Amino acid sequence: MARRMASILEVQDLHVSYQSRGGAPSQALAGVSFHVTRGEILGVLGESGSGKSTLAGSLLRLLHLNGKITKGAVFFEGQDILHANSNELQEIRGKRISLIFQEPSVALHPTMRAGEQVRQVLAAHGSARKNTLREKTRQVLSTVFPEETERISQLYPHQLSGGQRQRLLIAQAIACGPSLVIADEPTASLDPTTQMEILGVFRTLREKTGRCNDPHHPQSSGARWTG
Ligand SMILES: Nc1ncnc2c1ncn2[C@@H]1O[C@H](COP(=O)(O)OP(=O)(O)O)[C@@H](O)[C@H]1O
Ligand SMILES: [Mg+2]
Repeated sequence: MARRMASILEVQDLHVSYQSRGGAPSQALAGVSFHVTRGEILGVLGESGSGKSTLAGSLLRLLHLNGKITKGAVFFEGQDILHANSNELQEIRGKRISLIFQEPSVALHPTMRAGEQVRQVLAAHGSARKNTLREKTRQVLSTVFPEETERISQLYPHQLSGGQRQRLLIAQAIACGPSLVIADEPTASLDPTTQMEILGVFRTLREKTGRCNDPHHPQSSGARWTG
């Protein structure tokens, strides 16, 4: 299949199996293909156990040890992810593709203030010079907490609401300006009103950061849902 120029992610015929002790391997993904263009929001729908987390993990080669990609290809910005070495993967993870895990209370450090959690992500990836780290942290936080950036930045995770914790995870995910954010059920632990609010945050971010550069692909400014 010809790779579309506007795609930042191209997944072709992906197969993933899990090996269980003694038993035969069980297939979690059997031939998944899709592409994502710049500025596009792609939703993956499926019941529990249908392979959504497996798919998310495969894209960054972060599957459980007994999980194996047995067939297919993943290209990110033209780079062959399934054949990338560990240095190349390290460069991609968190910086060019970031992952938001399902459960915010597990993903956040319990004794670290919100601002510090974002600052550490920036520092770890060398995404800001030391003297600009503070300002950059404030900037990132203000994209998800435009109205009370300073106050929220001083709070610990347990002092935040579920929606605020999810916003903080989103802030961490976008801190280094990735081309792609993968969110694994980012609203699963939230009440319906907050779910809508968080989906709104993603939409706003797309408008702010994911402007479509390619006039030949007008669909890249829309949302697509794959069943
Ligand atoms: N580490 C694992 N070992 C064995 N089977 C697994 C493992 N992780 C997931 N699976 C199986 O793979 C299938 C897909 O799981 P998952 O990707 O977590 O689905 P979803 O995220 O859509 O709920 C399920 O049948 C699940 O039981
Ligand atoms: Mg899952």
